[in-house]
Amino acid sequence: TGMRRLVVVSNRLPAALSREDGQWKVNAGSGGLVTALAPVLRNRGGMWIGWSGTSEEDADVEGLLSDFSAEAGYDLRTVPLTSDEVAGYYFGFSNEIIWPLFHDLQTRCRFEPDSWRMYLDVNFKFAEVVARSTTQDDFVWIHDYHLMHQAFFLKSMGVKRRTGFFLHIPFPPPDIFMKLPWRWKLIQALTEFDLVGFQTIQDRRNFTNSLHRLMPEASVKGRGAVVTVDMGSHQFRLGTFPISIDYNQFAAIANRPEVARAAFDIKEALRHRKIILGVDRLDYTKGIPERIRSIQTLLRRYPDLHGQLNFIQIAVPSREEVDEYKDLRTEIEQLVSRVNGEFSFPGWVPVHYHYRSFPPEELVAYYCAADIALVTPLRDGMNLVAKEYCACNVSGDGVLVLSEFAGAAAQLQKDAYLVNPYDLEGVAKALHRAFHWDKGQRQSHMSRLRDLIRKNNIYWWVDSFLQAGIDRKLGDFPPV
Ligand code: UDP
Ligand code: G6P
Repeated sequence: TGMRRLVVVSNRLPAALSREDGQWKVNAGSGGLVTALAPVLRNRGGMWIGWSGTSEEDADVEGLLSDFSAEAGYDLRTVPLTSDEVAGYYFGFSNEIIWPLFHDLQTRCRFEPDSWRMYLDVNFKFAEVVARSTTQDDFVWIHDYHLMHQAFFLKSMGVKRRTGFFLHIPFPPPDIFMKLPWRWKLIQALTEFDLVGFQTIQDRRNFTNSLHRLMPEASVKGRGAVVTVDMGSHQFRLGTFPISIDYNQFAAIANRPEVARAAFDIKEALRHRKIILGVDRLDYTKGIPERIRSIQTLLRRYPDLHGQLNFIQIAVPSREEVDEYKDLRTEIEQLVSRVNGEFSFPGWVPVHYHYRSFPPEELVAYYCAADIALVTPLRDGMNLVAKEYCACNVSGDGVLVLSEFAGAAAQLQKDAYLVNPYDLEGVAKALHRAFHWDKGQRQSHMSRLRDLIRKNNIYWWVDSFLQAGIDRKLGDFPPV
């Protein structure tokens, strides 16, 4: 028998192509999906199928990615997309309908029927590549909201594959999901996977609640982390698998002398004031404007803190073609200057704002330098930044202030300082208290956080998903 080959399918590959001044560049993909999955494939080998990040037809995509693939030790297959396909499927359906809706922000949705059609066309195109590049012996693991129709199209082509699907973002409550014009087809397509995985129990409950409303024939059997759903015509599995990070990898980078040195340099440049850190893709789900306002509230309420702290916000450019993201950038930049204008004095500028992506070593140096990580998304599937901060906190006395609306809160609630990101005064108060926690208190919370993330790391996550997806018999597939 042996181990099945793992084939990962996601919109985003770990490497993205872009052209600057006529020169092709291979960039690392950003976001939690890539951070989590890259070490998995490096570790196990296999294949990763996805979009190259460019729609320019003259790009020698496979050639440009071959070095990356050789070095990483697994195969890459790309799905070429035209600019119209990217516009309808990626920007339109995925990022202007599903992304806001699933993060409970339905007023930001543009329910454009053409986007839905393009989403289906591109999903079909992906499924054709998957069918061509895999065999019946592979385990085909599809990731995230861009590709929810993979199992549906594979089956409609008569292609038998063992499939798993993992949703990296939240699944909304039925009252919100029901607003989707294509709700029935979408949920029906999800029932065609052999295993569907969610980040939290709440997401899974939201899904089953919508499923019961839309497909009354569905019945859930069993209890625990993985259950079976009987659809009458077939069965599939449903599970909860909170995603994580390669803990040891992050901790190892944090322990490098040059990274410790870089962290010290950051602290010294800021005259050893307390550092509060935010790290996010520039995205409206991350609550960045609210976070800056809560810093403003903190400085208004507690004048004794003036000159005592710095708030550093790292904002990674993301989906810049979408208007909502452009507007958000302007809003954030105005807020940063407003707060700095209100409080700065010679030798102290409270808010430091970086709009660019950071190489891992530099990012880890910021994690190491920070006394407090301020992770306050309005809604988030998991939020890996919260876990990365803890893994990198080798000093062991940092504080994680975490939004109760991040998936990570379900796991970390006992030892993170939970806040409501909409409650500016509550966040300010939490920060003020965190400043006055004694070292022993901070250390005991942080060491429990680190233990939990070290144990429940990305390899634990992969094993639990694959075990639920492969190791037990299901339907007409022979067990391994
Ligand atoms: N990150 C990145 N480039 C950067 C800074 C951060 O790719 O310049 C990574 C960060 O290390 C983390 C991921 O982006 O792994 C963000 O994941 P998270 O789950 O917090 O949110 P997402 O972006 O997936 O919504
Ligand atoms: C989130 C999504 C991922 C996505 C990432 C970056 O983590 O769950 O699927 O890859 O954001 O966004 P992008 O649109 O650049 O792929």
